[in-house]
Amino acid sequence: MPKLMQTLAAGLAAAGLFWSARPAPPAMGEAEALAAARQVAADLTGRLRDLLSRELAAGGFAGAVRVCAETAQQTTQEFAARAGHSVRRVSMKYRNVQDAPDAYERKKLEALEQLHARGQLPGEIAEVVSEAGQAYLRYLKPITIAAMCLNCHGPRESLKPEIRQVLDDRYPGDRAVGYRTGDFRGAVSVRIALSPGRR
Ligand code: HEC
Repeated sequence: MPKLMQTLAAGLAAAGLFWSARPAPPAMGEAEALAAARQVAADLTGRLRDLLSRELAAGGFAGAVRVCAETAQQTTQEFAARAGHSVRRVSMKYRNVQDAPDAYERKKLEALEQLHARGQLPGEIAEVVSEAGQAYLRYLKPITIAAMCLNCHGPRESLKPEIRQVLDDRYPGDRAVGYRTGDFRGAVSVRIALSPGRR
């Protein structure tokens, strides 16, 4: 390839990378936003699950808790930046204060907790809300506790000492212990701006 073309190709590749790393255009219709919210919630859940199982295989629970503590936030933020939407995990009993719910999420988490107590936990909730004159789709996908989660979220006294040590060091105000299998844990929360007039 002539030198100029090589330079051009490299320049285009770099520009392409730059474009693809930019957030998607924010304005969407409601149906499109709902599809995007479902997709991004499922993708983030899958990504964090893969991360966890890879670390479990490599270093057991004690190794995994360290990696989770170091990478969960970064992974989630990178994910949100790539998707171009606000995506995060929230819980009333959060471990990381970054996962504390906002007022809207708090209201919905409380409602979901009550539904769960009655055995009626829905697979998702979605609603269009207006915030400061802008319409948003707000989407929550509930998360429940499986047996393996108890290694790091079970009753404090049942945690392995090396896991408890990492949690004590990193999360002095940790609320995310004391769970039992099947408990309601929180939700993946997605918020997408809707385009005006396209609801
Ligand atoms: C190896 C230990 C470990 C296991 C196993 C584990 N977690 Fe966690 N979990 C953590 C740590 C550490 C954090 C805090 C991550 C951070 O700082 O963002 C966390 C955070 C979370 C959060 C975000 C809300 C919060 O409290 O900050 C949710 C939701 C969650 N875990 C659910 C689960 C579920 C469901 C399972 C089982 C499928 C599970 N976890 C298994 C260690 C673990």
